[in-house]
Amino acid sequence: MTDEIDGNAVSAQIRSELEASIDQLGESGVTPGLTTVLMSEDNASQTYVSMKQRACENIGIDGQTQELDADQPAEDLFDLIDDLNARSDVHGILVQMPVPDHVDKRRVFRSVDSMKDVDGFHPENVGRLVAGNARYKPCTPHGVQKLLESAGVKTEGKEAVVVGRSDIVGKPMANLFIQKAPGGNATTTLCHSRTTDLAAKTRQADIVVAAAGLPEFIDGSMLSEGTTVIDVGINHVDADNDKGYKLVGDVDFASAKQKADVITPVPGGVGPMTITMLLYNTVKAASLQTDVPVDLP
Ligand SMILES: NC(=O)c1ccc[n+]([C@@H]2O[C@H](COP(=O)([O-])OP(=O)(O)OC[C@H]3O[C@@H](n4cnc5c(N)ncnc54)[C@H](OP(=O)(O)O)[C@@H]3O)[C@@H](O)[C@H]2O)c1
Repeated sequence: MTDEIDGNAVSAQIRSELEASIDQLGESGVTPGLTTVLMSEDNASQTYVSMKQRACENIGIDGQTQELDADQPAEDLFDLIDDLNARSDVHGILVQMPVPDHVDKRRVFRSVDSMKDVDGFHPENVGRLVAGNARYKPCTPHGVQKLLESAGVKTEGKEAVVVGRSDIVGKPMANLFIQKAPGGNATTTLCHSRTTDLAAKTRQADIVVAAAGLPEFIDGSMLSEGTTVIDVGINHVDADNDKGYKLVGDVDFASAKQKADVITPVPGGVGPMTITMLLYNTVKAASLQTDVPVDLP
């Protein structure tokens, strides 16, 4: 029987434990604060930002959104980041990606105070992650670690194959897998668009994390019996329904399920975990900046 991980249930459990951490902060008069900055008219970005805001409200984090027009000068964004860096009630700052082309994304990552960088994209936080001393683990790969842990999947000594090498998913995922730490100690292969014979790599894997952004790209023929398959992909494909589209992952779920021991669905797998781990990082940020210790899930 394949074990299908219920990302909504794991996420709900972590959020309820985080509420206790938020209560601990509250006893010292601290309310964790997260400000999300949106500089885009893109519908998907707007949806993500309102989901984050709602998640904050539901759990007791002071979630705020600051909006800039997509054609405003880049300096307006950097001035806003400076203001937020200086505010003691804002513990976490998240600039929703993508930013417009005239804004230097790397400068955005560098500009957010590294203590408030709840995405984990600041070079200092990337360096700490690679060095095995992470302050804020990037939300999506951290969520994958939590899903594996919830399903009792051990990573130590396993062959892990990550498909995709983006800065937000693939690279930090591989960096977490190689750490000499719980959820790590895996022998890790990081694949990308120049990888030759991807199927040979994925067939050798005990754990496959699919993050290529290609709909239903990894199918059962590319997997061995007993693999754990984590599908990070979120792709809109045309569908004959009211919306005219449906969401599918990077994994062909039906055929992959025939081979996998453990698998995540899309939707309802990794997706809910990303915002949950953002809440986690915000609570941690508030604790670090106020010196109020909390127990984290
Ligand atoms: N569940 C969530 O919360 C969550 C969060 C973030 C992203 N996502 C989803 O995850 C997927 C990946 O996101 P991303 O931001 O990491 O994507 P991305 O920045 O577009 O990166 C895609 C990666 O896949 C690689 N790739 C492309 N074609 C490939 C192929 N044929 N074989 C092997 N690798 C290939 C690319 O290689 P090169 O580097 O060589 O170009 C690149 O490294 C998307 O569907 C996205 O919507 C979900």
